[in-house]
Amino acid sequence: MRVTPCAAGPCAAVWAWRIMASPAAPAPRSLRHTLGQRIDACAEAIDVVTTMRDPRVLASLLPSALRALLLRCTGDASQESLPARHKVVFDWAYPADFPAMEELYARAKQGQWDAASLAWNTSVDPLSPEKRLLPYDFIDWELLKASGIRLTEHEKTKLLADLCVWMLSQFLHGEQGALFAALQVTEAVPFFDGKFYGATQVMDEARHVEVYRRYLETKLHKRYEVNDNLYTIIDALMVDSRWDMKFLGMQIMVEGLALGAFGMLFRLTEEPLLKDVVRRVILDEARHVHYGVLALREKFTKHLSDRERREREEWAFEVALLMRNRFYAMEVYEEWFEGRMSRATWREFTARSKGMSEFRRTMFRRLVPNLRAIGLLSPRIAPRYDAEGLGEYMHGLAADRLTGEALLTDLDGARAA
Ligand SMILES: [Fe+2]
Ligand SMILES: [Fe+2]
Repeated sequence: MRVTPCAAGPCAAVWAWRIMASPAAPAPRSLRHTLGQRIDACAEAIDVVTTMRDPRVLASLLPSALRALLLRCTGDASQESLPARHKVVFDWAYPADFPAMEELYARAKQGQWDAASLAWNTSVDPLSPEKRLLPYDFIDWELLKASGIRLTEHEKTKLLADLCVWMLSQFLHGEQGALFAALQVTEAVPFFDGKFYGATQVMDEARHVEVYRRYLETKLHKRYEVNDNLYTIIDALMVDSRWDMKFLGMQIMVEGLALGAFGMLFRLTEEPLLKDVVRRVILDEARHVHYGVLALREKFTKHLSDRERREREEWAFEVALLMRNRFYAMEVYEEWFEGRMSRATWREFTARSKGMSEFRRTMFRRLVPNLRAIGLLSPRIAPRYDAEGLGEYMHGLAADRLTGEALLTDLDGARAA
């Protein structure tokens, strides 16, 4: 998938048409790939789901993965619409039915902030060596050299900046998904106190879209397209009719992973405006994940059959692996290195490069304890997390015990460690 400047250029189909119409018309870099590279990219997208072991999980994610593949093959779609199949639950008795959610709603009202109040007049130089977006050693330069790529110091700084743009772009896309998921969940959740709380989350997510979009547009002047795997997960939960799957997909998986990633960026970045943006978003996100834990603990421990709980356990595990194994910043690879190194070499490089591998691992720091808290880490599945190297997070604090400022303190603890 290609990088998209904020003022989007012609899509791949238009370029293809231009090439056929006029052989002299120059093709963009992304269309100059060899057939082998294109096949490799599509095979990788298909591979996203074919490695899944559970047929029900495969069936639930396959249509979304195919839509992601279609996007990859046809170029970027700036706008699309999806059918929603969930039920809107009204309650004309207006019950006070979930005290913990009522308390969370009260906190959320107190915690609102105005994105316009941030220091947007801060001058940001993405290539500044003094206030780096990401630390210099985020990439293992020796390993990159061993992979056959030699970069100048200026190119190294630019690559680091692009990796940060890529992360923030994925945060932005995830926030758009969270905005619409929060809207759907507010309609579909059966707890009336949950609807009050959900309304605050809708506002929070709109603000998160606002700050990430504004930072990318006005400070970094660049944006990457949505990652295939993130797209697949967001797409799947938007069209799923079950409210608890939307909660599991967005509040626990996507937001839990994002919280780990935000925490890492908060610790690493030296750019003060970005640090402030991420810090404020973290405080909101901690409430959202807490909301997911409250709702799903109730549902999963009291209202699911063994078969239904097992299905969700498998789904969460496969999605966790999907995110961990496939989040290789391929969009950055395609812009920088396609044609200079193979996709497989890049994947190996990011898997072994300290900063990149830590980024992917850290995402699980918040997710795994939350899966435990909602009852999706049974003795049946826990050894599989262990086998994937995710067991180290098994005993961390879940969202209901780690909110607000306590979470930032926990992040500082992670830095000290
Ligand atoms: Fe958010
Ligand atoms: Fe959120």
